[in-house]
Amino acid sequence: MAQIETAGLTKEYSRGVRPFDAVHDVSLKVEEGDFISVMGRSGSGKSTLLNLVAGLLRPTSGNVMVKGRDISALSDRESSFIRNSEIGYVPQGHSLLGNLTVLENVLLPHSLFRRKTGDARERAVSLLESMGIEDLADSLPRALSGGEQRRAAVARALINSPSVLIADEPTGDLDTETSQQVMELFQKINCSGTAVLMVTHEQDTANFGNRHFTMNGGILTEKM
Ligand SMILES: Nc1ncnc2c1ncn2[C@@H]1O[C@H](COP(=O)(O)OP(=O)(O)O)[C@@H](O)[C@H]1O
Ligand SMILES: [Mg+2]
Repeated sequence: MAQIETAGLTKEYSRGVRPFDAVHDVSLKVEEGDFISVMGRSGSGKSTLLNLVAGLLRPTSGNVMVKGRDISALSDRESSFIRNSEIGYVPQGHSLLGNLTVLENVLLPHSLFRRKTGDARERAVSLLESMGIEDLADSLPRALSGGEQRRAAVARALINSPSVLIADEPTGDLDTETSQQVMELFQKINCSGTAVLMVTHEQDTANFGNRHFTMNGGILTEKM
């Protein structure tokens, strides 16, 4: 079974009086082991696609199945629960909460559903270690560089051991060397069994994927 499968996924927006599809009829399967890159220019619908896949936006038509379950057919609470456990999301830009420490940020997706606390703290610390930022656990996000903030956001996305990591322009605001480091981290995560779905407008970043797509005017096409 695919980790995520979309069928006929479409999101219509109206621009002035004229409606247009920001995402049009996208059928995409994310399988275990996939590291998918989606390249497209600004405005091509990449973020809209990710938000639909992550269940943060409701499609105009079509659906999203997460491990065989149609999340749009479930109650908000049920779909949020599945999303929270199966999907790790690294949003575009700065996404850490400024008044929480790095460690608290990383623990947030875990605390939200009041899962059994268990070894979450330990896991958060070990994620920060694997990102090389364990020294920053008690710092506030504003004390971190862009690359460190991105790595903390990746750690946060991984706290519930998701099946799929979704990332929106993960290297968008990083220098070449830091981008390389973050992408190597993604490869490591992918090798350890988490599928990756990433959008980017940078070729160097896209090259890290093992399946390549382009997004153009809301239409997704696989490059063979
Ligand atoms: N909430 C919205 N209402 C109307 N139009 C939107 C909305 N969100 C995005 N759009 C439009 O949809 C298109 C795709 O946007 P987006 O998915 O953010 O593109 P990308 O991430 O590739 O830059 C753009 O033309 C954008 O202006
Ligand atoms: Mg975007």
